[in-house]
Amino acid sequence: MLIYKFIKKLIPIKIKKIIKSIIQNYKLVSHEEYMKTVEAYYSNLIETDGLNYEILVNGVNEIKGVKGIICEIGTRRGGSAKWIIDTLSKNKDTDRTFITIDPYGNVEYDHGDGNIGSRKEVVGDYTNIMRSETIPYLYHYGLNKLSNFIFYNLEDTEFFERYKDGIPIYSKEKKEIVNQYSLVFFDGPHDYNSVYKEVEFFNERTPLGAVYIFDDVSGSYNHNLLENKILLDFGWTRLDTSERKISYKKISI
Ligand SMILES: C[S@@+](CC[C@H](N)C(=O)[O-])C[C@H]1O[C@@H](n2cnc3c(N)ncnc32)[C@H](O)[C@@H]1O
Repeated sequence: MLIYKFIKKLIPIKIKKIIKSIIQNYKLVSHEEYMKTVEAYYSNLIETDGLNYEILVNGVNEIKGVKGIICEIGTRRGGSAKWIIDTLSKNKDTDRTFITIDPYGNVEYDHGDGNIGSRKEVVGDYTNIMRSETIPYLYHYGLNKLSNFIFYNLEDTEFFERYKDGIPIYSKEKKEIVNQYSLVFFDGPHDYNSVYKEVEFFNERTPLGAVYIFDDVSGSYNHNLLENKILLDFGWTRLDTSERKISYKKISI
């Protein structure tokens, strides 16, 4: 130790400063390196819990040129959000605001009972730990690829109450209140009444050419009833149909 101190004293201050700055530069991580690590980490953590993601991809491709926010209800581990972001990137449609809404907190989750009732239970999976393992990385991923990405830590109903007049979006030296949606992915609560209320909210906020995508259309709630009651008569026509996901396009207002 004494020898070390003695040698250190012999090194001129100028040389010491150079050595210090070399060490500091060596420790610095560039933005590119950091993002690569985040992406690798996030890609490893995310997972999806559904099927037929090609319906989501087709829907996202379909809205190129249609103005409005992209909204996902039900984030979970960010699997579907990543599909949406990657598809927008591939389609060179990244000047978008993409929002995803999820309360987490392990709150009661409504799966629906196959008809129009509800079947609430705590799934035990949608916890705040899941939120911590997902949202920071999803934020990095989303904001790095799109012009705007926002996570709302809210239930669908809370979001509707608080943002019924639109979402403030800040860009290009101005603020704009946007209350129009180009695509909605319905993958939060899966009971009839909740999905009905969600569709009701977005129906008056979607332009011609907008796309709806519904997950878990079989086994949770009566999707055919929903289609007849609030989709077909309100200008929506089927785009793609699969076992688990169905999409629609708005063709009249
Ligand atoms: C089926 S998972 C979503 C899966 C995800 N979209 C994917 O494909 O990777 C359902 C999510 O909805 C969330 N959720 C539960 N109740 C909700 C509500 N009232 N509003 C919004 N999201 C809700 C849960 O916390 C859960 O993360």
